[in-house]
Amino acid sequence: MKFAKSILCIGAGYVGGPTMAVIAAKCPECKVTVVDINEDRIRGWNSDKLPIYEPGLDAIVKQCRGKNLFFSTDIPQGIRDSEIIFVSVNTPTKTFGEGAGMASDVQYLERTARDILAHSRSSKIVIEKSTIPVKTAQAMENIFLSSPRSGVHFEVLSNPEFLAEGTAIRDLENPDRVLIGSRETPTGITARQTLVDIYAQWVPRERIITSNIWSSELSKLVANAFLAQRVSSINAVSALCEKTQADVREISRAIGADSRIGAKFLNAGIGFGGSCFKKDILNLVYLCRSYGLEEVANYWESVVKINEYQLGRFFSKMLKAMLGTMSGKRICLYGFAFKADTGDTRESPAKYLTHKLLAENAMVTISDPQANDNAKIDLAGYGEAIQYIADPLDAARDADALVVMTDWDIYRKIDYAQVFQKMRKPAFIFDGRNILDHKKCFELGFNVFPIGQQELTHLKYE
Ligand code: UDX
Ligand code: UDX
Repeated sequence: MKFAKSILCIGAGYVGGPTMAVIAAKCPECKVTVVDINEDRIRGWNSDKLPIYEPGLDAIVKQCRGKNLFFSTDIPQGIRDSEIIFVSVNTPTKTFGEGAGMASDVQYLERTARDILAHSRSSKIVIEKSTIPVKTAQAMENIFLSSPRSGVHFEVLSNPEFLAEGTAIRDLENPDRVLIGSRETPTGITARQTLVDIYAQWVPRERIITSNIWSSELSKLVANAFLAQRVSSINAVSALCEKTQADVREISRAIGADSRIGAKFLNAGIGFGGSCFKKDILNLVYLCRSYGLEEVANYWESVVKINEYQLGRFFSKMLKAMLGTMSGKRICLYGFAFKADTGDTRESPAKYLTHKLLAENAMVTISDPQANDNAKIDLAGYGEAIQYIADPLDAARDADALVVMTDWDIYRKIDYAQVFQKMRKPAFIFDGRNILDHKKCFELGFNVFPIGQQELTHLKYE
């Protein structure tokens, strides 16, 4: 079949895979190919068990794969055959040299730009999908200019992805907005229009925002910083609630009803995780510092500091509540993923907590409907101290404490009377997501420690 356009995506991860699946589904006249250096990942995308769990993804991939959606490891061929190339490789926090622990590591991005240059025989629109430091487009352009080939022009666009894991397909099919940045040159504006036309096949035109390329690059970092800032703000308030008999859920409801504030991202909890928030804020902080904006950098850095404080505070509270010792006690974690509806454990607060618990000589049971496999990889080497039991009722057996780490819906629906029966006494619940019926659990006999609310306990702490 002859396709109207050939689209390539380099990087078949949490962003590249779902995004391209939706483009393929919405634009049947386009051929969409996703390539990756990781053979296992590509094998996964071509199999019945996709490499990532995302509600609704299986159905879309099955519908399009082999028709106009293809997964391959042949990057050179993919580059040669396409007119539009999305770059969706990872840009983790740098672990070495200048900016280690803060700056974004853009080596894969540069390598990808070099690959594109080496294998292109015709002009390409190259789209930054990965989250990157502002001014990265210039670095890519400089690579492309380093060995010009006559008749081959590269136009770099920025089109950051705002999907959240767990709701990726919904976010892609019905985005609040699509942002496309370009150089404000005739070739830049033409390329931008090409991408606008692709999205306009399913996104209302008024939700497609165009801007200059630097605004687009920076908007992604700023969007994540604002979202994370809301979580840190409400988490900071939760600490004050615990001292003052105020209830953080009531505060969220009260302030969220103000349309200027809005109700979303006001759930207090054990702190944000995921591959983006911390990485993107630290990247923003590093950028500010590198431009000499120390006060601005410190402001954003405090968002990450409050996140660390919240988790540290949660752990200290657990230790104190459990009579000052966890040695030999079994702690059952309900959830290991960084949020519900994903198997992703990157920067999951559960990982941090598990390390703290093991350092106290506790035994840990991990129970997550999707993330147990990733947890095993993350915690390899701990042996007998950790057990993995997917069924939450079985996982609670002989536990001294339950800790709700992930807001999976199933944890709201379990029969906590049965759970209580299976546990050692005194039985504790630490609800790191504030999703349980605390009063009911207390009445069943649990000692309940929520976030930003008064604890409900049968024990005496003076
Ligand atoms: C990543 C970044 O973390 C995020 O900041 C950015 O917005 C998009 O890319 P994600 O899709 O979640 O997000 O990352 P990951 O699941 O690690 O996928 C990246 C893929 O790129 C991996 O499968 C990796 O094998 C691939 N890759 C990496 C290449 O194909 N070539 C490379 O040179 C490097
Ligand atoms: C985020 C952004 O939402 C998305 O736009 C961007 O493209 C990538 O980064 P993601 O990390 O997948 O998406 O999940 P998100 O829903 O934003 O949650 C991030 C973390 O914040 C999770 O650990 C979540 O549990 C936590 N969170 C979120 C809270 O603790 N409270 C809230 O009210 C909301």
